[in-house]
Amino acid sequence: MTMDKDENIRILQHRLAVAGQSHLLQFWDELSVAEQQELYMELNAMDLEELSQAFQKAMRGGSLLPEKENVDIKMEPLPREVLGSTTRDQDHLPAWEKEGLRQISQSKVAVLLLAGGQGTRLGVSYPKGMYDVGLPSHKTLFQIQAEKILKLQQLAEKQHGLKCVIPWYIMTSGRTMELTREFFQKHKYFGLKKEDVVFFQQGMLPAMDFNGKILLEEKGKISMAPDGNGGLYRALGAHHIVEDMEQRGIGSIHVYCVDNILVKVADPSFIGFCIHKGADCGAKVVEKTNPTEPVGVVCQVGGLYKVVEYSEISLATAQKRSPDGRLLFNAGNIANHYFTMDFLKDIVSVHESQLQHHIAQKKIPYIDVATGKPLTPDKPNGIKMEKFVFDIFQFAKNFVVYEVLREDEFSPLKNADSQNGKDNPTTARHSLMSLHHRWVLNAGGHFVDENKTRLPAIPCCTNGRSNMNQADVNHNLKDACDVPIQCEISPLVSYGGEGLEEFVKNKEFHAPLIIDISGVHELVKNGV
Ligand code: UD1
Repeated sequence: MTMDKDENIRILQHRLAVAGQSHLLQFWDELSVAEQQELYMELNAMDLEELSQAFQKAMRGGSLLPEKENVDIKMEPLPREVLGSTTRDQDHLPAWEKEGLRQISQSKVAVLLLAGGQGTRLGVSYPKGMYDVGLPSHKTLFQIQAEKILKLQQLAEKQHGLKCVIPWYIMTSGRTMELTREFFQKHKYFGLKKEDVVFFQQGMLPAMDFNGKILLEEKGKISMAPDGNGGLYRALGAHHIVEDMEQRGIGSIHVYCVDNILVKVADPSFIGFCIHKGADCGAKVVEKTNPTEPVGVVCQVGGLYKVVEYSEISLATAQKRSPDGRLLFNAGNIANHYFTMDFLKDIVSVHESQLQHHIAQKKIPYIDVATGKPLTPDKPNGIKMEKFVFDIFQFAKNFVVYEVLREDEFSPLKNADSQNGKDNPTTARHSLMSLHHRWVLNAGGHFVDENKTRLPAIPCCTNGRSNMNQADVNHNLKDACDVPIQCEISPLVSYGGEGLEEFVKNKEFHAPLIIDISGVHELVKNGV
């Protein structure tokens, strides 16, 4: 090792000692030169002081302590005047949708996908967007979303006679970047222009024990995890994404999560609603009906708009009901957010540093520095720190909330089929086919069985999230959802159920039915 390198190591050792993290070099002499280099680079790039401050602040914030009641006491439901609804405000929907499409036609709308998560619960080693839930077409979540963007561009162009682009910004993490990029390249960006799909990477943070000591995953490797979907704002600044948006003349941004198979990417009615209300920030919600459903609730805390995450609300508060029997805190966050360009710019340049990390206690495999042995704890031994994307709602000057129907817009893919009956590939697949079945019925089509008898109108898929007890849910799922009518309509044919009459009106179909740009296919009838 040269003098320079020795000097560099000494400086690092000193920095680590000051920060109380000297143990990270405990196994230095056992590492290969390549491992030493990697560890040095990783530690050298770390802002240890900022990290320590974030740790102290997050611990003081009390997320680790059983202080949920503190938040609970301050929680208040949303005031009526901020709400809009696809069911109660049906008269306004056409105007909102028109406005949204007008904005899209002028290339003023961008979509921003949060895809840096690790998909731990789903249990796959690749990015969730690459998941195939087993639809007849075997399209992945990424492909479905890409095709919705393509279709919206076409709809806006057709209506306004303007060639337009909806740029797609995709936030990945160290865990998902390479595979995501390769997947898009391999699939030729699903028909989108390469220059309109912009990847950028969020930051990572080290896992720590309860005393703020950084954990080692291996003797020469820090245990790192993405810094939460609220890492978005720092990443937007660091990778000059805001400038890119400004250069393109973007005015509205729709942010959403990768895992919702029903997501209405760049939903014109949501965008139009927010614009009509003069909002700088908005959130889409569905009615939360089950107190323990793992969704955050949009509400006010101490007079500020917030999402209280499912991990941070107490059961007693989650179970509170209004006089009409509905949950008091029923605005279930489906992770679809609207920002104006000015609001986003303000967040990135002014407020990002004010966002506090949330703490999750985890069982984190680590190297015991005393023995050098790898240990896998059976109870939480440390924390991961994350920022949350919705924590910027508090800075909005005019915040609005848009209520949509769960069966139309929300069926997230969180768990593996083997885990339980909720939010898994089967429920995602069924939700999509059930929605498309309904679109066919609404457009005047019918399904018949092998005796040409018309099948009854669609059964309601509960997705395991209603007020029913588990036995009822199981029964209902068995009867209604285990064998849904197999029907899949390509987003390239219809974005939200529109334009299907020419394919289905007054016609009878046998399932499985696929409608794509090459036409209508009844798979069984044609012996496919
Ligand atoms: C999220 C919401 C929750 C909402 C629920 C609806 C947050 C913090 N919580 O919860 O309020 O009710 O979705 O399904 O938004 N991600 C990153 N980087 C990260 C971590 C996550 O980009 O570091 C992305 C994931 O890829 C995913 C999204 O953020 O697209 C949500 O992450 P996930 O961990 O699945 O959130 P939930 O806990 O389900």
